[in-house]
Amino acid sequence: MTSILPHGGQLVQRIVEGEARTQLLEQAKQWKQIPINTWTVSDLDLIGVGAFSPLEGFLEEADYHSVVERMRLANGLVWSIPITLALEEQVAATLENGEQVALVGEEDGVIYGVLEVRSIYKVDQQLEAINVFKTNDPEHPGVQKLLARPTTYVGGPIQVLNRPVPAKFGEFYFDPAQTRRLFAEKGWKTVVGFQTRNPVHRAHEYIQKSAMEIVDALFLNPLVGETKSDDVPADVRMRSYLVLLENYYPKDRTFLGVFPAAMRYAGPREAIFHAMVRKNYGCTHFIVGRDHAGVGDYYGTYEAQEIFTNFTAEELDITPLFFEHSFFCTKCGNMASSKTCPHSKEHHLTLSGTKVRALLRDGQCPPPEFTRPEVAEVLIEGMAEHVTSQA
Ligand code: ADX
Repeated sequence: MTSILPHGGQLVQRIVEGEARTQLLEQAKQWKQIPINTWTVSDLDLIGVGAFSPLEGFLEEADYHSVVERMRLANGLVWSIPITLALEEQVAATLENGEQVALVGEEDGVIYGVLEVRSIYKVDQQLEAINVFKTNDPEHPGVQKLLARPTTYVGGPIQVLNRPVPAKFGEFYFDPAQTRRLFAEKGWKTVVGFQTRNPVHRAHEYIQKSAMEIVDALFLNPLVGETKSDDVPADVRMRSYLVLLENYYPKDRTFLGVFPAAMRYAGPREAIFHAMVRKNYGCTHFIVGRDHAGVGDYYGTYEAQEIFTNFTAEELDITPLFFEHSFFCTKCGNMASSKTCPHSKEHHLTLSGTKVRALLRDGQCPPPEFTRPEVAEVLIEGMAEHVTSQA
């Protein structure tokens, strides 16, 4: 049994099923229909299944300010990323506190859920950007998304009526209640969660396996929601994870399940958020390596680790495992970091993401010390498919 409690003590469950769902859906059709984009659909669903416990809905004003200013909900619980619903001014102006509205996918017209309006408020996006992303540079992909949103937010508890249906790899979608049960069934007492938005290269593998030496199992939990356009598409990554696990990981101590959230690129704050969410999925440990959830050079290499010192071990209640920048050292003849390798930089094999993508696009495998050949093959094939499908 994993003994770890969800964040806040209880797994939130706001998915409505059966007769109650049929009735609420009928009612919701009569309420105001509020369009939401795919990012918000994913936030709604993640709240519904309890991945974002203790959130029961989109943040109300007091919680929002508290999260933005001090990385805590108004009740003091650690929470570092504002999960909010932004609505066009003219839509928000028609709403009143206490009213129920239907949340409808703007692309498919599906009523994904309902919201009880409890709080309608204007926000200062510049302040949110500076606090959450540590920059208001509109070139930052997270800031760009933020600034493109309306500045009126609407908060309140939600209920989910329809779940988004994954286009591919549906068998790797697990709700926190399911992963918790599965980990318990497997008898795992300690599980380390690994967040990634990239293919798993040797450095990722090295830190995962270093962690696996001290815990019962690895939960490989790639983020498959919205990412920036030059990140490797999720379906290609999924194929690469499968071939990697098949060839290099012990089946009885590894579990692959996706995290269907959008990537914020908020570096340090997102590391805290990622850790809290993985606790909800039942992880007892969480890996934070170099520049976790970072982009460009907005964050210091280890800032996403340092931010954890703002909180006590009790209030985090999941053990972060910090890893230094890892690489293959030609002199050591194995993977290492500056903590374990005495050799100078010229012996270290490091490649930038841009360089690796360029190699793969040209149909060339990066060196096997950087990427397993089986993984490289899948990536080359996948990149070619995506180029063709976009042409
Ligand atoms: S992230 O945006 O999801 O954090 P990425 O998929 O590259 O990006 O990283 C997944 C995890 O591996 C993060 O915890 C990150 O800090 C860590 N990581 C990535 N590359 C390295 C590396 N070379 N050395 C140590 N840790 C790394």
